[in-house]
Amino acid sequence: MRRLRTKIAIVGAGPSGLYLSHELRGHGIDSVMVERCSREHLERRVRAGLLEEGTVRLLRASGLGSKLDKEGLVHDGFQLRFENNLHRISTASLIGEPTYIYGQQEVVKDLLAARPLDDETLYFDAEDVRLGGITSDNPCVAFTVGPDRVLVEADFIAGCDGYHGVSRPSIPASTLTFHSRRYPFNWIGMLVSAAPFASELVYSVHPGGFALQSMRTPEISRLYLQTDARDELSDWPETRIWDELGRRLYVDMSETRARGAILEQVMVPLRATVTEPMRYGRLFLVGDAAHIFPPTAAKGLNVALEDSSALARALIAWYDRGQGDLLEGYSAARLRSVWRAQDFSSWLTWLFHPAADASAFDYNLRTASLARLAEAGSTAVAFADEYVGYSRRR
Ligand code: APR
Ligand code: PHB
Repeated sequence: MRRLRTKIAIVGAGPSGLYLSHELRGHGIDSVMVERCSREHLERRVRAGLLEEGTVRLLRASGLGSKLDKEGLVHDGFQLRFENNLHRISTASLIGEPTYIYGQQEVVKDLLAARPLDDETLYFDAEDVRLGGITSDNPCVAFTVGPDRVLVEADFIAGCDGYHGVSRPSIPASTLTFHSRRYPFNWIGMLVSAAPFASELVYSVHPGGFALQSMRTPEISRLYLQTDARDELSDWPETRIWDELGRRLYVDMSETRARGAILEQVMVPLRATVTEPMRYGRLFLVGDAAHIFPPTAAKGLNVALEDSSALARALIAWYDRGQGDLLEGYSAARLRSVWRAQDFSSWLTWLFHPAADASAFDYNLRTASLARLAEAGSTAVAFADEYVGYSRRR
């Protein structure tokens, strides 16, 4: 058994864990990270791609802005389509903030590239990861890499290991409330090698279901399509997907040329979870380990990085000034933000996704709500505020 001592043991090297470790290193606080997957897998994993201005500001302030500012796409607004009319919602004029398109795996790559070349504090491909001593002053994380069993003793553990990780299940279930909601929809997400047909995001609410055109670069489109929650990818052969995308987005996708090669395809269940509290003893839950958002409003990555930033600030206050109030307040403060983002994500999910058995009454109510958003009035301002995350961060 190899024994190591550090201040913070971080479980999981997704965006939450990597950003936390980056912030701590910038303030001279050492950490050791352990990750179940390989580096190549992390860099390739396609996830969300919309960054709020607040997230971009965090990344820039941590010295991670240069590639993002070069390659990220700045969007002053987006298109909302319903009843076959296109409406432009300008978040820049309604609330004064744009959003940015920059893939999560690019954020991950930037965070990995910012680590020292001789980095010996990040273990990939770890197996049998276990947490111990969480309620003691000496919590620890043990894992196997290659032939070695490694024991990391720390002052605190950050559980940044996502929805399927070990951190949350290491907390006695009787001390947690686990909220979970499954929406009755899935999304098929596709990464396509073709220029997006519109330069801004197009959210289309069609009687046949929701569709979204997003992008990653000027040459790579990201397309999403609502399906029933019971559907599987095998129910959706390629021609059915293209026909349905064309119909819902009102573009001609009958020509193979207009489609492009599918680089990646996933079925995403729409669900939400929140774990309360986000702390147990010396273990803090961060990002997807504590909460999942439906992808509709793209809040997952933004809220996850906010968690990391808040925990980093709390730990810095603890080590630099001996102040424990931010650590004590971490869970309550983060949960206020998390529920606010869940509220918006839930509201937008119901608004954008017509149920297969929706009545004409439901349909007309939805159209009236969308029409209110499309007017540049106070509803649109409140909507833009939540979409860019402006007030949530204050
Ligand atoms: N031990 C070590 N690492 C683990 C374990 C484990 N037992 N289980 C999972 N992990 C790793 C995963 O392999 C993954 O790399 O933890 C990491 C968690 O990363 P994410 O799931 O990306 O979660 P997070 O860093 O909180 O990022 C949130 O991810 O799912 C999206 O929408 C979400 O964009 C948001 C972002
Ligand atoms: C994405 O590009 O992945 C994306 C963008 C906006 C959303 C959801 C997903 O609302």
